[in-house]
Amino acid sequence: MSIRNTEQQWGWPSKLLHWLTALLILVQIPLGFYADDLANSPLKLELFGWHKSFGILILMLAIMRLLWRMAGSIPTLPDASFVQRRLANLGHSLLYGLMLVLPLSGWIMSSAANRPINWFWIMELPALTGPDKVLKEIAEEVHEVSVILLLVVLAVHIGAALWHHFKLRDSVLKRMWF
Ligand code: HEM
Ligand code: HEM
Repeated sequence: MSIRNTEQQWGWPSKLLHWLTALLILVQIPLGFYADDLANSPLKLELFGWHKSFGILILMLAIMRLLWRMAGSIPTLPDASFVQRRLANLGHSLLYGLMLVLPLSGWIMSSAANRPINWFWIMELPALTGPDKVLKEIAEEVHEVSVILLLVVLAVHIGAALWHHFKLRDSVLKRMWF
């Protein structure tokens, strides 16, 4: 397996980062909803400890992915019309944007609420802002709206991947797999 992306294939770093983030995000979403629903308790605090740690990890992986993507080329969509290509690009841009906005709004929310982020109980992250009630409300709103947008875009993304594989029977899903 090659390290670099080619015209037809994703290289292994892109694949690894894609599936690692996919897995983390698919755990992160139910974890967020579940922890948010719990009454205040030690369990809730612990689950949010995990939610914040995973979220920051996703942020780091997303930044690595974007840097790696910018350092090389990416495969072109096979037999796709101009409109299809533009839609795929739009969807992917939205996913990248959300992988940055979600953790950052979470980080700002925690900082503005004056709650420390103890990353995997290894080290405390610096606060991005001082205590600020209004900013906390805004960041929370941004986090919530982004979650809904993510659910919609992901449904289309996963649907499109399956459609390529089972209906069009092209290489789009295979070339992202190992
Ligand atoms: C089971 C779930 C998923 C499947 C089956 C899937 C499938 C795929 C496939 C086949 C591609 C390659 C498209 C191409 O070669 O043009 C792709 C790209 C991509 N996926 Fe996923 N994906 C899944 C989950 C996710 C998740 C959770 C995210 C993050 C929120 C994500 C973000 C992306 C992004 C940003 C790209 C574009 C890569 C680039 O152009 O640099 N995917 N996905
Ligand atoms: C890709 C990363 C992330 C995803 C997909 C995600 C997803 C979610 C979801 C689904 C919820 C429950 C629904 C809601 O209240 O909006 C939630 C809530 C929350 N998340 Fe995240 N999150 C991410 C990153 C983070 C990070 C990095 C932090 C903090 C450092 C964080 C802090 C919070 C907090 C404090 C809540 C509760 C919000 C409230 O009180 O309404 N999240 N998140």
